[in-house]
Amino acid sequence: MANIDLAYEAGRSIKRIHPKLKERIAASTTSPRRRQELEEILDARLDEHWGQFFRLLYQLYGGHYDFFFYLENIVLTAVDAWLARPEALKELDRRRENDPGWYLSERMVGGSLYVDLFSGDLVRLRERIPYFKDLGLTYLHLMPLFASRAGNSDGGYAISDYRSVDPKLGTMEDLRALATDLREVGISLVIDFVFNHTSDDHEWALRAQEGAREFQDYYHIYPDRTVPDRYEQNLREIFPTVRRGNFTWHEGMQGWVWTTFNSFQWDLKYSNPEVFRAMAAEMLFLANTGVEGLRLDAVAFIWKQMGTNCENLYEAHLLIQAYNTLCRIAAPGLVFKSEAIVHPDEVVRYISPEECQLSYNPTLMALLWEALATRETKLLKQSLGHRHDLSAGTAWMNYLRCHDDIGWSFDNGDAWAVGINPDGHRDFLNRFYTGRFEGSFACGVPFQHNEDTGDMRVSGTMASLAGLEQALLHKDKVLTEMAMRRIRMVYGVLASVGGIPLIFLGEEWGMLNDYSYEADPEKMDDSRWVHRPKMDWKLLDELKKPKSPRRRIFRELQELFMARKELPALCGSQMRLLTCDNPHTLAYLRWHDANLLVVLANFSERTQTVDLRQLRTEGMAHFMKDVLSEREVSTRDSLELGAYELLWLAED
Ligand code: GLC
Ligand code: GLC
Repeated sequence: MANIDLAYEAGRSIKRIHPKLKERIAASTTSPRRRQELEEILDARLDEHWGQFFRLLYQLYGGHYDFFFYLENIVLTAVDAWLARPEALKELDRRRENDPGWYLSERMVGGSLYVDLFSGDLVRLRERIPYFKDLGLTYLHLMPLFASRAGNSDGGYAISDYRSVDPKLGTMEDLRALATDLREVGISLVIDFVFNHTSDDHEWALRAQEGAREFQDYYHIYPDRTVPDRYEQNLREIFPTVRRGNFTWHEGMQGWVWTTFNSFQWDLKYSNPEVFRAMAAEMLFLANTGVEGLRLDAVAFIWKQMGTNCENLYEAHLLIQAYNTLCRIAAPGLVFKSEAIVHPDEVVRYISPEECQLSYNPTLMALLWEALATRETKLLKQSLGHRHDLSAGTAWMNYLRCHDDIGWSFDNGDAWAVGINPDGHRDFLNRFYTGRFEGSFACGVPFQHNEDTGDMRVSGTMASLAGLEQALLHKDKVLTEMAMRRIRMVYGVLASVGGIPLIFLGEEWGMLNDYSYEADPEKMDDSRWVHRPKMDWKLLDELKKPKSPRRRIFRELQELFMARKELPALCGSQMRLLTCDNPHTLAYLRWHDANLLVVLANFSERTQTVDLRQLRTEGMAHFMKDVLSEREVSTRDSLELGAYELLWLAED
């Protein structure tokens, strides 16, 4: 970076832009009082955030010959979006600015779903709001619901227009109405910001295909293999069974297009500041529909640099921070959630109040499955022991399953530290979860098996992977009981370990794998569809049957979420592992202010003994009570934990 005085230049730039901002405000209202009010709000936000925004943008694009032009256009784009922001959302902004850590609350419980599979469309989704409330949700993520390409659209992740809802699902108005209704009952709506790529039939891509150079510059397109081949030397393949390599030949343009995922998902070229601006406009448009969070899709891949693996690059972080700062100016109520399914060291680098306030916790997800398979918690503890803490003002989103596959992205060093050979272990886990390991309780399906590297990931619903499918198939009472307990225990950890528990809807009923995708030409090549079943509303009838396993899962999840909301110790994410010598159990302490909660969990189907005397040395009372079952335990003794037993112990 050239040696310039950034603070000084930032000040000069905003002075030059400021008259235009005032013009925009003046044009937006006839009331002089309102105008003054808006100017004051904007000036206060710029005072706070401009320096940072300028620094980020300068780092990204300062070398561009037309830097000031883009800087000005980006700010004007943001201010226009802010002025267009509905009053109710400006009110929400005020509330969030006064309570920036709202998502750290123990009251937070998340869910995610595909609109078409869950309810058919947005109007019928609105009718399900009482259901979400009943379940205890306060956060609802809808999978991509925008206009997407015909045929295979990667479940909506190939977007052709960020400003119109897929007509099969409804309209923009329906989305706004849903956001409003949800907000009224205390549920924050979250949608994806799919900003790494567009569909090949997005207008920008179509213009590129027509030969418009300006739009070809939105994507990475190369006339021959020279540059792609040089990049390829360091790139991973994300969907190797779809296509080898990361580039797709386009006959019409006579060029190779960068396509990290499917061939119809074209990676955007963020080194072009016009792409940054254009996507900022889409992002703020989405913010103004009333969503309170954006899930930043595929964050790891957004910046490319020759000679690197083009994942998790420094500039990717600058870029997200720049978007975050724009939101502080134009939609401060909004939070970002990171989807970085990468090595744990890299996952955390996206998480901060200045970047993504929330993040999937893929490491915990994978290690919970690992511990269930092995019935041992050593790797889980090893990882939790030094990877759980996050910076203040941020939170994990803890999940077991989502719409994607499971990858064993734990750290090799963590594995070696507890005597596990990481690659051999990944191989074991793949076999365990895809029915190639004798005695396994799981029914899963391989995903993206790479013949060359042997890499593989796993698909399957929570319940099928946790043993319910097999148990019900064999009509085996003992296996069913074990599956039920396993499920309850692991959600008990999810809901208490620190962060927001997040379910993929259908889990609350233990929905099983749906193998019908195998017969659908648009889906058969993508086994993730096995864990995206259509919601079976008949399951609700199970609530009337006292002995139904489905009823039990639903009630137990509901109970865990309700109990969580009443436990201030679960606010935030401070967690410390407690040493208990038993290799099959997990024990930790959660606290917030003066509130404490001790969680004990048995990851095996055998009774385990744990020594509770450590709790005494921690200053805990003689008697503690499980808030879920009222069971009382003494901290002077050792304690027996039954098969998959879970205790949330509070002082009496
Ligand atoms: C994200 C989504 C995944 C999709 C990919 C490409 O990782 O979660 O479903 O295939 O991005 O958009
Ligand atoms: C890879 C990517 C992740 C994506 C997933 C889809 O794991 O890192 O972003 O969701 O593939 O399968």
